[in-house]
Amino acid sequence: MLTVRAPATSANLGSGFDVFGVALERPADVVRLEKADRVTIDVTGAGSQYIPEDPDKNTVGAVADALDAPARIQIDKGVRPASGLGSSAASAAAAAVGLNELYDRGYSREELVPIAAKGEAVVSGDAHDDNVAPSIMGGFTIATDKGVTQVDADIPLVACLPDIVVSTRDARNVVPETARVDQMVETVGNAASLTTGMHRDDPELVGQGMHDTVVTPARAKLIDGYEQVREAALAAGATGVTISGAGPTVIAACAEEDRRQIASTMLDAFGERGVDARVYQTRIGGGAEVF
Ligand code: HSE
Repeated sequence: MLTVRAPATSANLGSGFDVFGVALERPADVVRLEKADRVTIDVTGAGSQYIPEDPDKNTVGAVADALDAPARIQIDKGVRPASGLGSSAASAAAAAVGLNELYDRGYSREELVPIAAKGEAVVSGDAHDDNVAPSIMGGFTIATDKGVTQVDADIPLVACLPDIVVSTRDARNVVPETARVDQMVETVGNAASLTTGMHRDDPELVGQGMHDTVVTPARAKLIDGYEQVREAALAAGATGVTISGAGPTVIAACAEEDRRQIASTMLDAFGERGVDARVYQTRIGGGAEVF
């Protein structure tokens, strides 16, 4: 029997749409795995009532198939589904890391990324490595079709999850099909600043690099109160604010000493719109851990 803790993640970070991701120190999914003749799945925890236990429909079933590793799998969800915090990716990452070890398959962490992404495709219909990569490898990740680059960054973050449902399908449908050259130039500059900021553990540069005028404004319309929450977080000292993944979580980068105030300000700003929310005071953390 193995236990794996796989972290929630935040993809995109504004300027890195479908490429950048970070592992969050918390929340996380905890998955227990035991060898068995066939795959069975039990799900408990946050939003478990919305997650199918049928191995053909659950993200970890596809991972077990891909690794030819049948197991009894118990998932304790710390990450609510449809949060923008890589919920299905965390379970898929935990299963990939755990089954690889349980069955001694010998894959490296980087090699496990596309295997876990197959699991995610079961639920999202589309495989994105930008959530599974940081959940498996930790830190800040740059996932492209050439593979994953990883940086062990340390940046304080606040993730505020409102009680709103945004379907990933809707969030992808509003992404503009084209962008102007000036927007492309700005995005390249911001992505480069963010990457440098991650190497330097510099929240100012990371926050500056989170700015995005292409995808984020289109998606913000799906999140009631996004602009108010963003402005409130910036006024409280956040160095940058954007949508986490496909939303509805709003994520802010900051200096350590401002984190608590930013967290309470973001909660209040959603509250003023009549939207309940919960907040995680977190930071960039490590990848999936096996116990
Ligand atoms: N990059 C993805 C998106 C994250 O923003 O739609 C969800 O897989």
